[in-house]
Amino acid sequence: MTIVPTNGEKKDRKDSKDGSGQSKAQQPEKLEKPEKQPAAERDLKAKANRTQVLSAKETAADLKSDATLRPQTLEEYIGQSRLKTMLTMSIGAAKSRDEALDHVLFYGPPGLGKTTLARVIANEMGARIHMTSGPSLERPRDIIGLVHQLEAGDVLFIDEIHRLSRVAEELLYPAIEDFVIDLTSGKGHATRTMRLPLPKFTLIGATTKAGMISNALRDRFGFVLRLEFYSKEELSLIVARTAKLLNVPMTQEAVVAIAGRARGTPRIANRLVRLVRDYGHFQGAETVTEDIAVAALDSYQVDAFGLDATDRRMLEILIEHYQGGPVGIETIAATLGEDSDTLEDVYEPFLIQAGFIQRTPRGRCATPQAYTHLGRTPMNNHLGAGQLGIEFNKE
Ligand code: ADE
Repeated sequence: MTIVPTNGEKKDRKDSKDGSGQSKAQQPEKLEKPEKQPAAERDLKAKANRTQVLSAKETAADLKSDATLRPQTLEEYIGQSRLKTMLTMSIGAAKSRDEALDHVLFYGPPGLGKTTLARVIANEMGARIHMTSGPSLERPRDIIGLVHQLEAGDVLFIDEIHRLSRVAEELLYPAIEDFVIDLTSGKGHATRTMRLPLPKFTLIGATTKAGMISNALRDRFGFVLRLEFYSKEELSLIVARTAKLLNVPMTQEAVVAIAGRARGTPRIANRLVRLVRDYGHFQGAETVTEDIAVAALDSYQVDAFGLDATDRRMLEILIEHYQGGPVGIETIAATLGEDSDTLEDVYEPFLIQAGFIQRTPRGRCATPQAYTHLGRTPMNNHLGAGQLGIEFNKE
């Protein structure tokens, strides 16, 4: 587990066991001179990089630059305005009563700022933050060791909280509800339970799979907050801020071009800024113009809507193999050779939000916009849900 001191630092401690739940290190992004590589190697590298460019999963390069780019306060944080207003009021109220903030659950697609907001909350509360993740809290002693370190007012951040083991979850219930922990010793008739008090702390949970959290756990959070995709205007502000912090001169047109291709996701927007910056350096440009930004993004096959090769392949499969759907996610995943969880968590949320796919009770359907985007005419006889008058599941 990692303790990250914030502005309200009390101690500087770091455990050797890293349960931060952060993604494994991946290859840093680098622009290659295409002419100098053998074709097969070039294709492989391009494919690997393309997959990383638009993935909302965190890479090693993201982690490195995140530290400089991460907003520290709610005021500095761009977007999620409804949620920010509510947090501003609740943090103000908790601070004025000198109490810990009520527990918070953030859910939504990856890359939208759940971890960043947890850090911002800790910072605003003047509290320390302990960061860990569901999969690293498997055994009772993991939880006990963790809560044992808590001090009054601390924030405990559990990423991927939907992956907590049942034992860990049950141990957490009294900890978050009544600030006590039940320790058991012995076996069978000799089992003894001892209840220990805990300081009042704030649990912040984050998940991309709200549906996989038990009602019992969800009900114990005072705030259950969904992060939304960012608008193009919000992403433009984030891109401009990042370019400034990285000292990359950039025209407003280039800012807007990058924002429009960032899939509503700040993590991707920031990654595209770094990519375009490297491309600009390589070209010897002093300022990133729209032409440079578009050429850089085109070279990674990121299209004007921010779709990459996997997105387009998913739409092609729906349209060409399954006449536009409805078709189940497992079937699409098998045809695409992808993991269905990755499709559901990483690719599909944006395709749904951008209006390319609709989710119906009978499976996924390509929308007329998907046909048009791929340069095809929506077929009169396609089995898309719209044609059959199926009720869409709007979740
Ligand atoms: N960097 C990443 N996300 C951000 C946000 N929401 N506001 C400001 N900078 C960011």
